Amino acid sequence: WSLEMFVDKLPKLTKIYGYKMQNGKPIPRSLTIGMYAKKWKFHRDLPPSTVFAYGTSAATATVPGPTIEAINGVPTTVTWLNFLPQSHILPWDPTIPTAIPKNGGVPTVVHLHGGVHPPEYDGSAFAWFTANFREKGSIWSRTTYTYPNVQHAGNLWYHDHALGLTRINLLAGLIGAYVIRDPALEAKLNLPSGLEFDQHLFVFDRSFNKDGSLYMNYTGNNPIIHPQWQPEYFGNAIVVNGKAWPYLNVQRRKYRFRIINAANARYFRFSLTNGLSFTMVGSDTSYLSHPVTTDSILMAPSEIADVIIDFSATNANESVLENNAPYPYPTGTNVNSLNKVIMKFIIAPGKSNPPDTSSVPPVLKLYSPAIVPNGAVKRYIVMYEYQAAGGATHLYINGKRLEDPATETPKSGTTEVWEVINLTGDDHPLHLHLASFQAVKVQEIVDLSNFTACMAQKNDSLKCNVDNHVKGKFVNIPEYERTWKHTVKITPGYQTTIVVKFNLVDNDAPYPFDATTEPGYVYHCHILDHEDNAMIRPLKLLPA
Ligand code: C2O
Ligand code: CU
Repeated sequence: WSLEMFVDKLPKLTKIYGYKMQNGKPIPRSLTIGMYAKKWKFHRDLPPSTVFAYGTSAATATVPGPTIEAINGVPTTVTWLNFLPQSHILPWDPTIPTAIPKNGGVPTVVHLHGGVHPPEYDGSAFAWFTANFREKGSIWSRTTYTYPNVQHAGNLWYHDHALGLTRINLLAGLIGAYVIRDPALEAKLNLPSGLEFDQHLFVFDRSFNKDGSLYMNYTGNNPIIHPQWQPEYFGNAIVVNGKAWPYLNVQRRKYRFRIINAANARYFRFSLTNGLSFTMVGSDTSYLSHPVTTDSILMAPSEIADVIIDFSATNANESVLENNAPYPYPTGTNVNSLNKVIMKFIIAPGKSNPPDTSSVPPVLKLYSPAIVPNGAVKRYIVMYEYQAAGGATHLYINGKRLEDPATETPKSGTTEVWEVINLTGDDHPLHLHLASFQAVKVQEIVDLSNFTACMAQKNDSLKCNVDNHVKGKFVNIPEYERTWKHTVKITPGYQTTIVVKFNLVDNDAPYPFDATTEPGYVYHCHILDHEDNAMIRPLKLLPA
């Protein structure tokens, strides 16, 4: 069975403002956002689905949740409340490291992805709580989080992060966008703006049962070891802003779209039909130094592309946003007629009214460069997948569990080099909390099977002569990824060199708060099914 495409209008995400205006100036504001179980129509012809949704009330909660609008330098405080029912709507797996409340309920904890904030507001997987805070994780400490918004303007998102439940809590709908604006910078850039011409596209894949309920395989791929856990979730329907294959009526002019890949595991390689291209202005939480025009953008889960599309560049009256990334990426199944289509733009005839006065300036924004200081700490980060008869059982970073003591303990304020080695067959989106980083070199590992065999035995890059193995061909880092990011794709069989900054990349200033307190941060793979089992490690900052 299948659903007709382009019958639902693209929803505009509702906004909540994380600041108040007083005498013409923005001042801090406190918000309360709840998590609710409710019914959501993903498609005209699909019965309503039960979802978990963020909102200021059950009636107004949406999938994705409301977009929080913040202003650079003005703190936003959010009290996150859990109103979820006794049981989850999706299968979970107690054999992976998981938050398991004694008296039922759905454990949740919110993480602001891309946010620069103290550890106690980071939404640690162990700081989960159930409805009415009836049960709490081992390091739960507060009901209210303050986001200082000290970083430069950019695109963030918030989502659940509960231990071992991240993949199903996001699948159920616990996601939302967060934007930090710098009004002076935006006025200067003059990119398309306002509610109509600056919109989010929150893209994910889902499968549905005929009764409308979200479909997830209830049986693990290696069920003797993990009765429910599957290494990657892929759905057949592509959902944008909460509707499957929607359409959007646009004028013949420039629009700004902030595209967030909120899929569990699916990579998207986006392109547009009828000769249109993207002009990318930002990646994740940062602007690019200058606009990059490209016909296709590859996006791993949790990457954010800030793009301009100029619909006046075609005479056609429509353009379809398409995808051709295989799944899992890059070695998996090719897209089919369903997941190759994302949404359709229907372009109005005639000139835009009012006329388009926006522009795309040749220079966007410069941050401190990705230069490695002499004596910078260098770390090896190795990604492993473990197999047993029957298939994959779990994934680890450096062969270690999340519960093992932190080994990545950078000094606050420093710049480090991380050599990230992917010994698995597929690409993994590496995400660090707090820190901004960028890939500077991607080089093939030669004699990979011997290196992998050595690493399986010794789990030590230096003892396995890593430098003798990282000798192969280079992979080009696309121009549209050359800025300070929060997620970087890690190519299988290659070593990706990333420069990591544990300070504010805008000006290299130290964090204006103590980043060294408990419970610290984490870094992980953002394929949620990997993160849960358990491609995630602590990241603990030490005093400068
Ligand atoms: Cu977007 Cu630790 O996550
Ligand atoms: Cu992964």
